Amino acid sequence: MQDNSAATPSHADDTPPLVEVVKVTKIYPPDVVALRNVSLSAQKGELIFLTGPSGAGKTTLLKLLCRQEIPTKGLIEIGGSELSTLSSGDIQKLRQNIGVAYQDFKLLPKLSVFQNIAMPLEVQFRNPREIRARVTELLAKLGLGEKINKPAGKLSRGEQQRVAIARAAANTPQLLLADEPTGNLDAVSTRLVMDLFLVLNSSGSTIIIATHDEAIYQGTGYRKFELQQGELAAVHDSGT
Ligand SMILES: Nc1ncnc2c1ncn2[C@@H]1O[C@H](COP(=O)(O)OP(=O)(O)OP(=O)(O)O)[C@@H](O)[C@H]1O
Ligand SMILES: [Mg+2]
Repeated sequence: MQDNSAATPSHADDTPPLVEVVKVTKIYPPDVVALRNVSLSAQKGELIFLTGPSGAGKTTLLKLLCRQEIPTKGLIEIGGSELSTLSSGDIQKLRQNIGVAYQDFKLLPKLSVFQNIAMPLEVQFRNPREIRARVTELLAKLGLGEKINKPAGKLSRGEQQRVAIARAAANTPQLLLADEPTGNLDAVSTRLVMDLFLVLNSSGSTIIIATHDEAIYQGTGYRKFELQQGELAAVHDSGT
C-alpha cells in the first residue's frame, strides 16, 4: 500500500488533540474487562489505526468515542468536551460531527442504498439536489453506482460494507470512525475504500480505523495503536 505519510500532520506541536482518551477502563457487567487503563490521542486531521486481535477491545473503544458506551473509569474528550458531561442535545450535535462505519453495518435493510446514505445529509437539511449529487459521487467512488436504488438488505456483505462506509463519510464528518472497514472486501474494493478515506483525510477529517487487516496499514506512515486483551500494548509512531 502506498505511503501517504505526507498527509499526516505532525503531532509533535502543542495543538490540543481532537480526541483524547485518558486512562480509560471499560467493564461490561458483570465483569468483562474490555479495556484497561487505555490512554491515547489523535490530532485534528490525523489518520490512525487501531490494531489488535479479535476481542482486544477495538470496537469497544470506538463505541466509547461516539458515546454509544460510557467508560467505567477514565475520561474521553472530543474537541475539548468531556463526553460524560454532555447533555442529550450536545450528544446529538456531537454525533452529527462523527461518522461511524459499524463493524456490523447497521443499515436499514428495507430502505434503498440511496436512502441509507442520504440519512446523515437529510438530518442536516441539505438540499435534495446536493444530497443526490453527494450520494452518487460516493457510490461511484466505491464501485457501487449500479446499486443506488436497491434495498440495502439485498446487497452482498461486501456491498453493504461499502454502503455503511459511504453513509459514514457522507457529510464529510470532523471525525470518522471505521470499524473493520475492509473486513468483507477484496483487494480492489479495499483500495477504493482506502482512497476515499485518504480524500476525506486530506480535506481535514480525522480518521480512526480499527482493523485486523495488516495490508491496509503496513508500510504506511500513519500511527498505529495496538491493543492486546484490552490494554494498549504498543504505539507505532509515524514511519515505524
Ligand atoms: N456488549 C458486551 N457485553 C459484554 N461483553 C462484551 C460486549 N461487547 C464486547 N464484549 C467483550 O469485550 C471484549 C472486547 O470486545 P470488542 O468487541 O471491543 O473487541 P474487538 O477488538 O473489536 O474484536 P473483533 O476484532 O473480534 O471485532 C471481548 O472480550 C468481548 O467479548
Ligand atoms: Mg470489533
